[in-house]
Amino acid sequence: MSHGYAGGLGRRRLFARTAPPRLPVIESVNLCVNQGDFVAIVGPSGCGKTTLIRILAGLVRPDSGEVLDCRAPVTGAHHNRSLVFQHPHLFPWLTVEQNIAFGPRHRGIDRGDYQPLVEELLALVGLESFRDALPQQLSGGMKQRVALARALANRPHILLLDEPLGALDALTRERMQEELRTLWRRTGCTVVLITHSVEEALYLANRLIVLSARPARILTEIAVTFSTNGHASSGREVKSSHEFLTVREQVLEHIWSE
Ligand SMILES: Nc1ncnc2c1ncn2[C@@H]1O[C@H](COP(=O)(O)OP(=O)(O)O)[C@@H](O)[C@H]1O
Ligand SMILES: [Mg+2]
Repeated sequence: MSHGYAGGLGRRRLFARTAPPRLPVIESVNLCVNQGDFVAIVGPSGCGKTTLIRILAGLVRPDSGEVLDCRAPVTGAHHNRSLVFQHPHLFPWLTVEQNIAFGPRHRGIDRGDYQPLVEELLALVGLESFRDALPQQLSGGMKQRVALARALANRPHILLLDEPLGALDALTRERMQEELRTLWRRTGCTVVLITHSVEEALYLANRLIVLSARPARILTEIAVTFSTNGHASSGREVKSSHEFLTVREQVLEHIWSE
């Protein structure tokens, strides 16, 4: 119970606020992410996906259990673990290039050491001709590409993505899925992606984790091959194939049957 005063001197009132009850959000999650994995996590809304990824990033301390990054306990945020949210949160006063270079520059790394990577990332996300643009001059998809490049400029051990395509329109989202796929294949980075789209998870990841309703526990893990096979096929071809639709239905059934 905490107490406080509200209102001006003449209208001073005492109010009491009851602390919200503690809510168990994650029950039991035991997960080992291997280097080069693309792990997608799906689960019902409010089940604890964002809480889980914030714990992985070191932004939230779990009440029990631990997170290890290359065997070292995670005790706080670190540039080795880059987090990208649904909204890109770019620095509005910095150009595209400056946004991407922000992490290494902020850590005092010499420009000569980080600039080649910045150039590589600008090309990878197709924004070379927009290097001097400000975020306000970019579309939603372009902003999210900058956010991804900015995260990768830290050379993170792991890229943590919390519904990064969730705020995009359907067409841009499909295009961005292609870009994420290319990015993963070209860089070989390790990714954990939270998404509410089973289709997106199956298309992008090599492992799919299905979480239960809150408090979250792992219901099932599925090895996925759509992201590593079918290089030549278009996204639409893969997603409309019989095999893809069958697995998608199985996963959805798992979620609904909870
Ligand atoms: N900072 C917080 N304080 C209290 N409760 C929270 C906080 N953040 C999330 N929650 C609660 O924890 C549960 C899980 O939230 P979240 O991890 O955001 O779910 P998801 O990302 O799966 O939709 C929700 O019931 C939410 O209301
Ligand atoms: Mg969430």
